Parts: sequence; structure tokens; C-alpha cells
Amino acid sequence: MVIKAVKGVKDILPGDTAKWRMLEKKARSVFRRFGYREIVLPIFEKSEVFIKGVGETTDIVQKEMYTFADQGNESLTLRPEGTASCVRAYIEHSMYHPQGAVTPLFYFGPMFRRERPQKGRFRQFFQIGAELFGIGEPTADAEVIHLLTLLLKEAGIKEQKLFINSLGCGDCRPEFKKGLVEYLSGKKESLCDNCKERYKANPLRVIDCKSESCAKVIADAPTIDKYWCGDCRTHFTSVRENLKTLGLEFELNLKMVRGLDYYNRTVFEVIGENLGAQNSIAGGGRYDSLVKDSGGPSVPAIGFAIGVERLISSIGDSLKGEDESPDVYIVHQGKDALAQAFKIAGGLRELGIKTACLYKQTSIKKQIANAGKSGAGVCVILGENEISRNIATVKDLSTGEQEECPLSKINDAVKALRIKRWSGKG
Ligand code: HAM
Repeated sequence: MVIKAVKGVKDILPGDTAKWRMLEKKARSVFRRFGYREIVLPIFEKSEVFIKGVGETTDIVQKEMYTFADQGNESLTLRPEGTASCVRAYIEHSMYHPQGAVTPLFYFGPMFRRERPQKGRFRQFFQIGAELFGIGEPTADAEVIHLLTLLLKEAGIKEQKLFINSLGCGDCRPEFKKGLVEYLSGKKESLCDNCKERYKANPLRVIDCKSESCAKVIADAPTIDKYWCGDCRTHFTSVRENLKTLGLEFELNLKMVRGLDYYNRTVFEVIGENLGAQNSIAGGGRYDSLVKDSGGPSVPAIGFAIGVERLISSIGDSLKGEDESPDVYIVHQGKDALAQAFKIAGGLRELGIKTACLYKQTSIKKQIANAGKSGAGVCVILGENEISRNIATVKDLSTGEQEECPLSKINDAVKALRIKRWSGKG
């Protein structure tokens, strides 16, 4: 029986990896402009990193984590997201600046959530994430959102819709939660079984619940804007003004609470086109207490993560990978020619030239046809006639021009042709 990949887990095949690398390259270029530096985080952590960080009542922690006990009976979890890991690393390596400078970080990598697989929703998916530690000012919120939207634009997203909300702070959110619990208590019977259990402990999760029954109940629920304290209201007004200064369009969505517990104040999501039900390309927000709650100093932070599969599927074919075709294709006929081809290919590769050659005795006609299809600019022909005279024919595949050259000069001839083509003279 053929063993297949796990449900909801995809291979990324060579045709697509070039696009992925190009996306990574574009993302790096934008991160560089904003002063972000890369952090490579572990793929698994102690389970408590996520249980405490993401929140015990979230869907991620309650239903979706790949958690296992290792041979030493330690509970470990494949990371469902990057923020909690990044906070753990930030504290562990004392990356905070006593002088008050910020720490801007970015990361790439796979995340794991045991969700029901469907279009745009996987059990292993990739994120491009960014976290900015050390600043609570509203300009930072707008700057992080600018970074995200610029990255998406440069990656090739034509239409993006930005939604924002403020979830208040430790002072005003408890009041909002109280109001929400009062409202939900009267409608308890209409909630889904999961929310019946958790609405008192965490009523915000009901707003985020995907079940139809909870969505109906939430339609008339009180909204957070009635509860914002003065500081949160001023902060959020300033965030919106800063977004306008940068020319960024947005829509207020007072029902957006995000699926992770660490957020306060500004939260945001970007919705893409042609993605079906799973249309959120990216999401993020401020999390000013997570560093302290995780055992570090009191350091405000904000960040986002982009779902790479969704981003790529939204861009379609407009994202082109780097040219992977060879520079040179060597064709050969006969045993001696094959030996020469092997030697020449090795030499050219040492010189940094992408070289293709099929080390099999097949018809030279077929090999020349393959060379044409490969996208190579130069073909080195080693027929029986050439070998008997110790020469090779070097052909410029873009013009059809060809010349003979001694085998000892083959590297120079190939290099000269490549230079001619690159400088547009060929
Ligand atoms: P999140 O909203 O859970 O946020 O995920 C961010 C993005 O990851 C989503 O917008 C989506 O594009 C993608 N994504 C999530 N789950 C899946 C899935 N099962 N299949 C495919 N794509 C998926 C976070 O992860 C936060 N850590 C973001 C953040 C960083 N907040 C502050 N800093």
C-alpha cells in the first residue's frame, strides 16, 4: 500500500518552491527597510509556552494542538503559532533594551494546528511573522500595519481589505466582559456546547466562535467601543489618524476579537480576494502584557503573521520564481563523448555555471531537443565527429550561431558566449 502524507499536510513541489523563495526574498526586502532582523524559532516548545501564551480557553489550546509526551515524559507541542515562542526567546535571551530601544524581529516557518482541513485551511501551514517589542505608542501600531500591507502589496496582492478594532486594556476590558456575560447569560441555551462551557470564563471566545448558533446570538451583543477607557479611546483614535497619514484604507470591525487571548488594544486582519471561506491572509495585534505574564519585564509589543499558502493562492500566477533553467546543456554521442561530457560538466559547475547533462547513451537528436526545451542559452555538442578531432561545437541557442573550439578551451568558449548573451550582444 502507498503511504500518503498526513491529512491537511501538503508537499510543496519544485514548481512552487521557486515562488515560495521569491516571496521570502520580497518579504526580506520589506523587513530590511523597516529595520527588522530574523529570528529562527524552534518548531516545538514546552506545552506551557502555548497554553499560557495563547490562552487555555482558545480553540487552538482546547482542540488544535499537536501535543505529545517525549521519552522523558515532558509535554511538548508542535508550535501552533510564533508569537508565544518569540516572547519566550525574547525573555530567555534578554533581548530587551534598558535604554528603551525597540527589538523588531521577523520569522518564517511551519505552524501546526489540528483543524478540519478545507480550502485554505491546513494542519501544517507556513507563516511569515513579525513582532515588535518595546513600544506601546500608536505610531508603532500604524507602522506595523504599514509593514504588513506593503509586504502584501509588493508580494503581488492587488486588492486587500484591512479591518481594525481595539480590544481595550486591563482597565476597560473587564467591564466589557461583564456586560457580555450578562447578555450571554440570558441566551445561554442558544450557544454551542463549547461556548455554554466557556462563556463565563472567556466571553470573547463566543464572539469568535464559528458555529451558526453563536453567530446569531452575537449579532445583537454589546460592542467594545461603548466600554473603551479614555486612554484606549485616545490610543485608537491616534492609530486611525496615523493610518490615514500613511494613506492606508481600513474598516472598523467591532466584532473582531481574534482567536488568541494575548491581545489588547489594536487588533487587525487583512482579507484577500478569491480565497473562499478562509479569506484571512494575515492577522495580528498588540499584546502589551504577554512578556510580563510570561515572566519577563513589562514590555509592550505588537505583531502579525501572514498565512503563506493563502497569500500565494491569492496572488495566483503573477508571482514568478527565479529562473531555474540551466545556463549550459551538454549533449554527447558515444562512450568517449559521455566521459568528456561528465568532465566538462564538473568543470563548468566549479566555475559557477548551471550545467545540465543527461549521463545516458540516448540519441543526440533527442538530447538537442531537450537542450532547447530546458531554457539553456548555450549547448555544448560532443558528437563522434567532434571527439575524433578533440573539439566541441558550442552553440548559442538563442541565435543558432555555432563555432568549434578545442576541448581544452571549452570553459572559455562557454563563458564568452554567456557574457555575450548577458550583455545583449549575442
Ligand atoms: P492567526 O490569525 O492565528 O494569528 O494566524 C495568522 C494567519 O495564519 C491567518 O490570517 C492565516 O492566513 C494563517 N493561518 C492560520 N491558521 C491556518 C490554517 N489552519 N491553515 C492555513 N493558514 C492558516 C497568529 O498566528 C498570531 N501569532 C499573529 C500575531 C503575531 N499576532 C501578534 N503577532
